[in-house]
Amino acid sequence: MRIGILGSGLMGGKLGTIFARAGHEVVFSYARSEQKLKHLARNAGGSARAGTPGEAAKDADALLLAVHWSRIGDVLRQAGDLSGKIILCCSLPMNADGTELVLGHTTSGAEELAKQVPGAEVVAAFNSVPSEVLSGVFEARGQAAPPSLVYCGDEPRGKNMAILGR
Ligand SMILES: NC(=O)c1ccc[n+]([C@@H]2O[C@H](COP(=O)([O-])OP(=O)(O)OC[C@H]3O[C@@H](n4cnc5c(N)ncnc54)[C@H](OP(=O)(O)O)[C@@H]3O)[C@@H](O)[C@H]2O)c1
Repeated sequence: MRIGILGSGLMGGKLGTIFARAGHEVVFSYARSEQKLKHLARNAGGSARAGTPGEAAKDADALLLAVHWSRIGDVLRQAGDLSGKIILCCSLPMNADGTELVLGHTTSGAEELAKQVPGAEVVAAFNSVPSEVLSGVFEARGQAAPPSLVYCGDEPRGKNMAILGR
């Protein structure tokens, strides 16, 4: 699959690297330094490359949205038209200093995101997983039972892609 990474920090950098090493075509985007994106792509190997959010979104089968909640509007604007795309979102709807939810209890980050991108399919995934464990779980694949992952979305297509990679 072609997977665009929107937000290449702790989560996007690691998950993008894992996706690339699993054989997917990955474009890392949205960091404050282009050098960082290029370094991530080189380190991930395969056909991974650095790009703009628009380039990450173009022709992508799926996107990983992994920015602070306050940056979602900006990265979506830069990504352009996301109609028909599957968006995996690990972003938690937190306030600026990460101490409190800015949404919750009657709605969720994924539901509010879905309203902002009505033509796309939003799947909340990886939100409950600390970035520190991602690489270890990937390296242990096939040797240990995989840990459980909470994910949710409205449509089977997006959920299957999130979990089965197809
Ligand atoms: N970290 C975790 O363990 C974890 C676990 C579950 C869920 N989450 C959620 O996942 C989301 C991402 O978390 P994270 O820890 O990966 O965050 P992060 O490391 O801060 O990554 C955010 C990315 O956005 C980029 N960015 C921020 N401001 C920007 C701007 N003005 N212009 C361009 N790029 C900008 C950052 O650029 P730079 O690379 O230049 O900093 C970075 O690449 C958050 O919503 C968080 O709640 C995180």
